[in-house]
Amino acid sequence: MTTTAITHIATLVTNDPSHADGTPLGLIQDAAVVVDGDRVVWTGASSKAPATDNAVDAGGRAMVPGFVDSHSHLVFAGDRTQEFNARMSGRPYSAGGIRTTVAATRAAGDQQLSANVARHLAEALRQGTTTLETKSGYGLTVEDEARALQIAAAHTDEVTYLGAHIVAPEYADDPAGYVDLVTGPMLDACAPYARWIDVFCERGAFDGDQARAVLTAGLARGLGARVHANQLGHGPGVQLAVELGAASADHCTHLTDADVDALGQGGTVATLLPGAEFSTRAAWPDARRLLDAGATVALSTDCNPGSSYTSSMAFCIALAVRDMGMTPDEALWSATAGGAAALRRTDIGRIAPGARADLLLLDAPSHVHLAYRPGVPLTGAVWRGGERVR
Ligand code: NIG
Ligand code: FE
Repeated sequence: MTTTAITHIATLVTNDPSHADGTPLGLIQDAAVVVDGDRVVWTGASSKAPATDNAVDAGGRAMVPGFVDSHSHLVFAGDRTQEFNARMSGRPYSAGGIRTTVAATRAAGDQQLSANVARHLAEALRQGTTTLETKSGYGLTVEDEARALQIAAAHTDEVTYLGAHIVAPEYADDPAGYVDLVTGPMLDACAPYARWIDVFCERGAFDGDQARAVLTAGLARGLGARVHANQLGHGPGVQLAVELGAASADHCTHLTDADVDALGQGGTVATLLPGAEFSTRAAWPDARRLLDAGATVALSTDCNPGSSYTSSMAFCIALAVRDMGMTPDEALWSATAGGAAALRRTDIGRIAPGARADLLLLDAPSHVHLAYRPGVPLTGAVWRGGERVR
């Protein structure tokens, strides 16, 4: 296999606490990284880098792990520009807008949906995202959900079945019947393509009992659980996620003290999605409160055409630092190692021997510039699985 050394990295963020610089980011100054095939095999001082087949001079720029975006909804057609415009003139966000995208997605051909996923994945990769989870949830029939997952699985390993996004329009008068469909024939058709099951536990979508039925059916089928929880108001989503051992409770915008304690003590990651609060003009989730309670916090984009049409992890980092009480170090950790924890992965989100060589070289001397220079494209180079992709 070919070995490559990337040398003269001004600051290397390893997320490897064994580099005892005293911070969770495991910083190494004037560093090098050696890659063999798809793996990192060595990190350390640039002056001590071992001989390799190839060398790349980072020229005094900073390197961070590729971003791990653990929450997106990319299998969709159409967009909702008008809805966004209306919101920015004062209209509130409503989960009912999901129906607009369901209609457009059902009407689209497989190739169009696949091309849309590929386009958004490429857009994310250009900005340094090397792992991206994505969900179904705009089909809401057995056939449309299964095809969404099949299409998603052709593009990423992190695929989530979200048949329980909203009650399908055909079942408006029979929500219990829709839950039976989601936990029965739809689950049968979808489970083979998915790693995770998710449910939108919220007033206007699924209540606590319905969400429990959805998640327990998925868990019994061997899927891991994740929950859209406490986005638009207080509710049982977070407690349910922790009780059922979900990998992640996502949104976490409206939390009681008991919710914060549960996330602080349990094994469920709190995934915050500031793009959604930005695009719906809602109050920010309080990352500081969660971190101070001991919770593991992830940051993700929630990329979808309704509530958060951004694929930029750097933008989410900047929002989290400016408005959610995170330090630049904490926000970067959450956008990399935090996302990996939310996907229960140990091979990504860090730059250390044995990890997948997912590397983002920034056009900046320090990772802090991700928040310090908001809106500025700082992607210098990207490697995914050891392959230079940008
Ligand atoms: O995560 N909360 C539910 N689902 C998406 C919104 C989807 C949409 O508006 O189309 C979210 O924000
Ligand atoms: Fe979402």
